[in-house]
Amino acid sequence: MDLYTEADTDRDEFWARQARRLSWASSWSNVLDWSAAPVARWFVGGRLNVAYNCVDRHVEAGLGSRVAIHWEGESGESRAITYAELQREVSRAANGLASLGLVAGDRVAIQLPMIPEAVVAMLACARLGLVHSVVFGGFSPAALRSRIEDAAARVLITADGQFRRGGAVPMKPGADEAVAGTSVEHVVVVRRTGSSVDWSERDLWWHDLVDAQSDTHVPESFDAEHPLFILYTSGTTGRPKGILHTSGGYLTQAAYTHSVVFDLRPESDVYWCTADVGWVTGHSYIVYGPLANGATQVIYEGTPDTPHQGRHFEIIQKYGVTIYYTAPTLIRTFMKWGADIPAAYDLSSLRVLGSVGEPINPEAWLWYSEHIGAGRCPIVDTWWQTETGAMMISPLPGAETKPGSAQRALPGIGASIVDDSGVPVGPGETGYLVLDKPWPSMLRGIWGDPERFRETYWSRFSGFYFAGDGAKYDSDGDIWLLGRVDDVMNVSGHRISTTEVESALVSHPSVAEAAVVGAADETTGQGIVAFVILRGGADGAVEELRNHVAKEIGPIAKPRQVLVVPELPKTRSGKIMRRLLRDVAENRAVGDTTTLADSSVMELIAKGLA
Ligand code: PRX
Repeated sequence: MDLYTEADTDRDEFWARQARRLSWASSWSNVLDWSAAPVARWFVGGRLNVAYNCVDRHVEAGLGSRVAIHWEGESGESRAITYAELQREVSRAANGLASLGLVAGDRVAIQLPMIPEAVVAMLACARLGLVHSVVFGGFSPAALRSRIEDAAARVLITADGQFRRGGAVPMKPGADEAVAGTSVEHVVVVRRTGSSVDWSERDLWWHDLVDAQSDTHVPESFDAEHPLFILYTSGTTGRPKGILHTSGGYLTQAAYTHSVVFDLRPESDVYWCTADVGWVTGHSYIVYGPLANGATQVIYEGTPDTPHQGRHFEIIQKYGVTIYYTAPTLIRTFMKWGADIPAAYDLSSLRVLGSVGEPINPEAWLWYSEHIGAGRCPIVDTWWQTETGAMMISPLPGAETKPGSAQRALPGIGASIVDDSGVPVGPGETGYLVLDKPWPSMLRGIWGDPERFRETYWSRFSGFYFAGDGAKYDSDGDIWLLGRVDDVMNVSGHRISTTEVESALVSHPSVAEAAVVGAADETTGQGIVAFVILRGGADGAVEELRNHVAKEIGPIAKPRQVLVVPELPKTRSGKIMRRLLRDVAENRAVGDTTTLADSSVMELIAKGLA
């Protein structure tokens, strides 16, 4: 019986079997309680410690000397950390955090570069039942601050600075700005760059807090539904949503998918996921999935072109990477740099290639397969979201793959494509992707906002989770993802809301009105294009506005283009018609303008931009 049939035959038993791959302090009474839908309870009454599962149990199984992390710094320094060492480091960090008086359920914000301490800090939180909220290093102090405030974090763990493209970039000043006047009682600072920092009573060096602690710590078990982390993601409104994940179901699905989708062989594989721990991919496929499976992985601190464009291939060669998991935007960048770069390295260790974060165009898929995978590595195109916690739609290696298609829901997962009224569409017709059965790693809510949770995901189609993506079936019944159908952009695999960028723009004194669209971009998938109406001819504002957005949200949200226009196209009810602006941004003939309140607006815009 294959996995699909097994899961279809008895879904609960299928998931129970996956959960039993973990170590539980006490077992569950029911696999799933869906009576309070859409808030699920999985493995009801079961108890476990997530960090114990990711670290200690491997050491107890005699695998203490297995390398958990091959860490590679941007400047070429490296460190191998075994599971036994990881256990000691996580224990010390847990003892350190406990000494600050933190108790289970407290929130800890983390903003760190890709250094081992990021993984250790997350696991130390998990070990103590603290809820981490990791904030990507590319977010501004203002964005960090709003996340700290929303979750009422008691501690922020950050660094003095980080290395980016060969230079040291300070982080501590931003952290100081972010925590001032918030609930944060302590800022714990990892020394990374050695740059001088301002210090206050609230601050503590990580090494002072952690190094002298005992390297043993007895983990307590927590309920399967104990909150594990909050991760903020963009939605259709300006305010990011704190997506809440819990322990047992999340870890079960992260570990299961990491194992089956990559056909993981923990004793021999060297796995590398190029994401940052600040995103969900880093949570599920750097920290929790691979470590729960006892995998050996590479973690790389730097950018792919530092110090040269062959850096990733050099790392694959150096460590004999067998599984490589990255985003289409990077594959398209590699394409631009040229096939002779990977060709100069020995990539023969590679066995499975993965893609995530945005639809992969067939051209990039084929290039990936040929120039990185030498035509012999299966590519798994994995569709999922911050909200789903783990992979949902993906081929399994060994299946016949199709360039550009994520193909089918994984065993145990229910997905379907429906039309406006919730009826499944036929082959070739475009519809909305929905998830029609609860899954173990599903979000349990939006932090502090149960109503928004129901409204955003569960109100569009009764009984189904609405993912926000368009999709279609081909004639074989395989699923093709077509991108977001809401006002969320996908820039280099990063989710950014148009409204969030618009709010940042109008917060600038010279902007009267702003409308933002995601325009197709050859490398980044989408690029941010902003249309702004200025207050009384503020000349030279364009560059300043781009920087203003970077300052408000972070460099990842910096618009590719800011176009100054005299008017914005609006419907009679005052809604901005982004579709028309997208036509302009993508240099297309402008589509149907009959619903515009003033049909001459588009001519005005075109004339102004000519
Ligand atoms: O539009 C889909 C796209 O990324 C969105 C989720 O973004 P985020 O929560 O940041 O998580 C990204 C990493 C899991 C989805 O709604 N997306 C993600 N993976 C794919 C994808 N689109 C097409 N194909 C994929 N494989």
